[in-house]
Amino acid sequence: MENKLLEFQNVTYSYEEDGPAALQGVSFTVEKGQFVVILGHNGSGKSTIAKLSNSIYLPTEGKVFVNGMDTADEQNEMNCRKTIGVVFQNPDNQIVASIVEEDVAFGPENLCIPQKELRVRVDEALHSVGMYDYRHHETHKLSGGQKQRVAIAGILAMKPQCIVLDEPTAMLDPKGRREVMQAVRKLNQEEGITVLFITHFMEEAVHADRVMVVDDGKILLDGTPAEIFRQSTLLQKVGLDVPEVARLAAALREKGADLGDVLTEDDFVQAFAAGMEG
Ligand SMILES: Nc1ncnc2c1ncn2[C@@H]1O[C@H](COP(=O)(O)OP(=O)(O)O)[C@@H](O)[C@H]1O
Ligand SMILES: [Mg+2]
Repeated sequence: MENKLLEFQNVTYSYEEDGPAALQGVSFTVEKGQFVVILGHNGSGKSTIAKLSNSIYLPTEGKVFVNGMDTADEQNEMNCRKTIGVVFQNPDNQIVASIVEEDVAFGPENLCIPQKELRVRVDEALHSVGMYDYRHHETHKLSGGQKQRVAIAGILAMKPQCIVLDEPTAMLDPKGRREVMQAVRKLNQEEGITVLFITHFMEEAVHADRVMVVDDGKILLDGTPAEIFRQSTLLQKVGLDVPEVARLAAALREKGADLGDVLTEDDFVQAFAAGMEG
């Protein structure tokens, strides 16, 4: 029971009264410490889930609970927002100050954190995302990946238990994408922060504990990356694809060479080499 960090109970959300439902009867639970990836094509309802998870939106029907707190209960609003921080797609819209450390301090300053503690939090957050050496740099001169890591540090400095990232890598080049993904995985593994990572890049889902596929406002699949990527036909039907290595492994399986569950290049090389020896 205490393990549930975020729970959606039969949630429906419509942007307009009597309008179409952007989400329909969505139920899922995220447990403390999990790294969950949400996949789905454009318009499937991913951002709506992100905004419902920290009470930016409230469900039209159903309930959202954060650490057991009902987000629709006004008394819980501040606590819910402190528990779950959200990082959005465009780093430029999230940077508010001209110097890196000032930007990271902005959120906790608004929470009226005392100066001494503020300093500690900002430094820790910058270390966590590998941006400490840039603390005196100008934010507008950073690369996209660096800006996004500064945005994540700004959320971290508010000490959330969970971070929801809504396509944080969509506007980044491959290097920036890797930097952000590495920083987020480290937060999960080393600091135990629960992560809900929304993306349409399949490769970013392979390291998750769990993957949920959203289509047309509903949860279509929910399982481990290996379970999800076995469903390549279904994924293609909803405009998604499986990672290239997984596709290659599936093609080999059809020819009778089963390499087992292969999701990354490393998996593939190891399984293939083992097969050659055997
Ligand atoms: N502000 C809005 N007003 C009306 N409809 C919206 C709004 N934002 C999103 N929608 C609709 O809700 C559905 C889900 O959108 P969204 O959650 O943004 O999907 P995703 O993030 O997966 O692209 C889409 O059909 C979209 O057109
Ligand atoms: Mg979106």
